Amino acid sequence: MLRKARAGPNIVQILGHKQNYPEYGDQTLFLEYCSHGDLVDYKSYVHRRNAIVYVPEELIWHVYIQLSEALDFLHYGPPNTERGDWRPIVHFDIKGSNILVAPGPTDMTPQIKLADFSRSGTPDHTHPSGMTIVGTEDYLPPEQPHINHKGDVWAVGCVIHWLALNAPPYNHREHQIIFQRYRKASSETQNAEMKLKLREDYRRECEGIPRVMHPIDLSIEEWLATKSKDQEQRVRWHSDSAKKHIPRWSYAYSSVLNAWMMKALQTLPQDRATARRLVSGMIPVGKRAIEAIQKGSVFDVDGDGDIIMG
Ligand SMILES: Nc1ncnc2c1ncn2[C@@H]1O[C@H](COP(=O)(O)OP(=O)(O)O)[C@@H](O)[C@H]1O
Ligand SMILES: [Mg+2]
Repeated sequence: MLRKARAGPNIVQILGHKQNYPEYGDQTLFLEYCSHGDLVDYKSYVHRRNAIVYVPEELIWHVYIQLSEALDFLHYGPPNTERGDWRPIVHFDIKGSNILVAPGPTDMTPQIKLADFSRSGTPDHTHPSGMTIVGTEDYLPPEQPHINHKGDVWAVGCVIHWLALNAPPYNHREHQIIFQRYRKASSETQNAEMKLKLREDYRRECEGIPRVMHPIDLSIEEWLATKSKDQEQRVRWHSDSAKKHIPRWSYAYSSVLNAWMMKALQTLPQDRATARRLVSGMIPVGKRAIEAIQKGSVFDVDGDGDIIMG
């Protein structure tokens, strides 16, 4: 898959390959080296290097723009490809650790490269993975296990949410409890059929966990003002637990970034933006926002969601 994908923008390049056991199709790929590591590493680097606890808005736009370009290529092919002439590639595993970062002109404008195509496939596959429960499923879209290219868009929305709030839109605590229970059960049996059944049950249970999409353009006071007592408790719990790492609610982003993140995080796939829509709608707006941020000017958004320079 990566061979076919690599012609696209913002996709990690293959420099060479070595056949290990051709009879099993086993080979080693040599990739271009991305010296900043993955986006999880880079997020920590940005916090440390700038002594800040949030990710600046300019950087988030750059990541969003470059990931959208990568997805547009994977899903629709090179520019001017006719419908039907391109077999879409779905990545299926977009998350911070599978996004590589190479230096750009400044720390806020790095090069972003989508990597780890080990789960990628065509949209008619359901989410492919082994039968052992190996990792958390924080970035899976609500429609799992019936995921197509719109699942990649959801995952990019999750990456933006994570950059802004240090957590994907997921009830992590509830998920962890289920995950641990199934991991334990799975490690206690050697029966392959049983393991497979556990995995399916696990996924089904995860499906029921509500996604929690937090707006990113509110201060904590504004956020609390819109919530009921019960939700308020939850928010407090979230922010308390996050203090150990990074206080999440320390920074409010623009409403236009929030609006575009939410277009990628629509629960129903049919309501969710396509990568094409992100490229035609979000990218021009994002570029103007970046320009405004770099000039240090204030910007606002009009009724159509376009940016008005202050
Ligand atoms: N070309 C590369 N440049 C820099 N770091 C890389 C590169 N490829 C992989 N890495 C690092 O190795 C990690 C694992 O690689 P990945 O391709 O995602 O394999 P897997 O998740 O299957 O182990 C990445 O999260 C990243 O930190
Ligand atoms: Mg990986």
